[in-house]
Amino acid sequence: MKIDILTLFPHMFDGVFEESIIKRAVDTGKVEINLVNFREFSLDPHHKVDDTPYGGGAGMVLTCQPIFDCVKALKKENSKVILLTPSGIPYKQEKAYYFSNEKHLIIICGHYEGFDERIKSICDFELSIGDYVLTGGEIPAMVLVDSIVRLLPGVIEEESHIQDSFHNQLLDYPTYTKPRIYEGMEVPEVLLSGDHKKIEEYRQQESIRLTKENRPDLLD
Ligand code: ADE
Repeated sequence: MKIDILTLFPHMFDGVFEESIIKRAVDTGKVEINLVNFREFSLDPHHKVDDTPYGGGAGMVLTCQPIFDCVKALKKENSKVILLTPSGIPYKQEKAYYFSNEKHLIIICGHYEGFDERIKSICDFELSIGDYVLTGGEIPAMVLVDSIVRLLPGVIEEESHIQDSFHNQLLDYPTYTKPRIYEGMEVPEVLLSGDHKKIEEYRQQESIRLTKENRPDLLD
């Protein structure tokens, strides 16, 4: 898979893809991640990428030209273009699975007060990572890349995906490790029983209990 990230702040990504599982996925050629500063595509003599909004209002708005030209330069037949914006549709695990089967993603990070509405015409998806407003799309882009790359074949054990929260619309069951008693809190007896059927049932019940408590909306 290839992922191009269009950003005005490529240094925000320093370190994020250079550690742990994502680094290993990059080093083993499972994913190629390119940071593209779309300011370099601006035809403005001063490489301007934003302007004041028509109709008035606070802040600056990203203009069409640099982003249009940058996407045109990168886009291939099989590319999917994703725009990150707080007014996009909510990003869910289901979409992470969907994107993990794609060959080429182009992710556009918005910034400032927003972007010219016409930029949406070159995007396949408008996504939000949650009901809060961040200073730009860079952190959402990191969230997307991390959640997608971990699903690529051979990046982590496939069994881990099946246990993930949101697989089957349920939250993950609680897990424990040694020691058996810590500060008076004991590991549930059933997990020590060696009875795999009982353990499976316990975990299923706990997943349902936790989902009811923390995310009843998932059960609707
Ligand atoms: N840009 C700013 N806030 C965002 C959010 N919540 N999701 C996606 N992009 C954003």
